[in-house]
Amino acid sequence: MSRELSPIDKAKFVAARRAVDFVEDGMRVGLGTGSTAAFMVRCLGERVQQEGLRIRGVPTSSRTAALAREVGIDVVTLDEARWLDLTIDGADEFDGDLNLIKGGGGAHLQEKIVATASDQMIVITDAAKEVETLGAFPLPVEVIRFGWRATQALIGEVLVGMDVLGRDITLRMNGDAPYVTDEGNHILDLHLKRIGNPRQMAMVLNQVAGVVENGLFIDICDRVIVGHGDGRVETR
Ligand code: 5RP
Repeated sequence: MSRELSPIDKAKFVAARRAVDFVEDGMRVGLGTGSTAAFMVRCLGERVQQEGLRIRGVPTSSRTAALAREVGIDVVTLDEARWLDLTIDGADEFDGDLNLIKGGGGAHLQEKIVATASDQMIVITDAAKEVETLGAFPLPVEVIRFGWRATQALIGEVLVGMDVLGRDITLRMNGDAPYVTDEGNHILDLHLKRIGNPRQMAMVLNQVAGVVENGLFIDICDRVIVGHGDGRVETR
């Protein structure tokens, strides 16, 4: 990691580097998705190459799987690993209770499955992602492609009466076409601005027909490692 990093990338990198200190020989490790998680996968690859660290990594996306293989990590599926010792992943927002919004990179379905199949989840992030109340970042909701417009309308209905400040729902695009996740689904982004009761929101959204999984991670994260542009690292 010799090239000069921007302050934001430096923050992500130092958080990632600190997190890989928690990885021990023989562990089965969930590998998150996104730019911060990519730094972590590279740091882990360095430990594998330089220290002979033996781990099995379970990637949370096809992107992460490709990077993990490239840096020499032994990649296995979650079904092969069965259960994980630790997952390290990024986030889009986190609050004082270590609840998260994830899915900005479109991988929150696999990320949630992997994180909840782990003894421990460590989130790595830059300081700008810490919020008092979740919701400024649009909440990703993965939905089945079939009838997604009906699902969007139903989500709009359940938002009425919820403690939110906005109700716009947009279909995530990839250029001119709808974004398609690794599982073949679409993503609706909910522009709620403020989520007064994230626990209730997470439960209610997953009751809507067509919803596969929402990006709220409630009581899943155990520790947040926050990096700063000047190289400082804090743990929450
Ligand atoms: C992907 C995610 C990412 O962890 C989240 O979007 C943060 O990404 P980045 O580290 O690039 O800021 O949830 O689904």
